[in-house]
Amino acid sequence: MMSYPNVHVLDHPLIRHKIAMLRNVDTNHKLFRDLVSEISALMTYEGFNDVPTEEIEVQTPLERCRQTVVKGDSIVIVPILRAGLGMVDGILGIYPAAKVGHIGMYRDEITHQPEEYFCRLPDNIEDRLVFVVDPMLATGGSASAAITKLKEHGCRRMKLLCIIACPEGVERIHADHPDVEIYIAALDRELNENAYILPGLGDAGDRIFGTK
Ligand code: PRP
Ligand code: URA
Repeated sequence: MMSYPNVHVLDHPLIRHKIAMLRNVDTNHKLFRDLVSEISALMTYEGFNDVPTEEIEVQTPLERCRQTVVKGDSIVIVPILRAGLGMVDGILGIYPAAKVGHIGMYRDEITHQPEEYFCRLPDNIEDRLVFVVDPMLATGGSASAAITKLKEHGCRRMKLLCIIACPEGVERIHADHPDVEIYIAALDRELNENAYILPGLGDAGDRIFGTK
């Protein structure tokens, strides 16, 4: 795969350690959920590297000083349902002031095309930085459709956070939305004939919610 300037692979021993556990077929639902949350928290640190900031005055026990903080009301997290929900708590654990919108996408098992079934977004989303989150970027169809939907709602600045991606998905997002920066924790080899990522971790939604 070509390297793209707007794709950030978060290559860190702690993230690699947790992803190895996440992939393991013997990892139970509780541990799987906890790992998704912890990896999302670690990804937040990098994804927030250029968020809008503002200066405030703080009184320390000794004197007043000017400090930089994340700009109030500037951050929205939009999980792609269902599996994206698993990433929200980890991000809110690091930055609790974020607003949360929801987009429901279901990937048809035969065609692999995304079908939207839900959309509820915070007011004035067009003025905010939106983090679209989903653990898996496979064909890229679901994330691309979610980003298109957000653009229709006026969003101008978005970042996509995915735990595991493959070259096909990254290339799809780059082709459809070259303005969107992508943060991934692991870039896997390829898609199989059922559009599952290899080596991957299986079906993220089923593993988070225990539905299979
Ligand atoms: C999974 C995953 C992504 C999508 C990725 O969701 O969470 O949303 O597939 O595949 P794509 O890149 O080829 O579109 P799924 O449709 O299985 O729904 P779920 O989260 O409800 O399980
Ligand atoms: N969705 C998943 O949950 N896993 C994959 O490997 C591909 C799509």
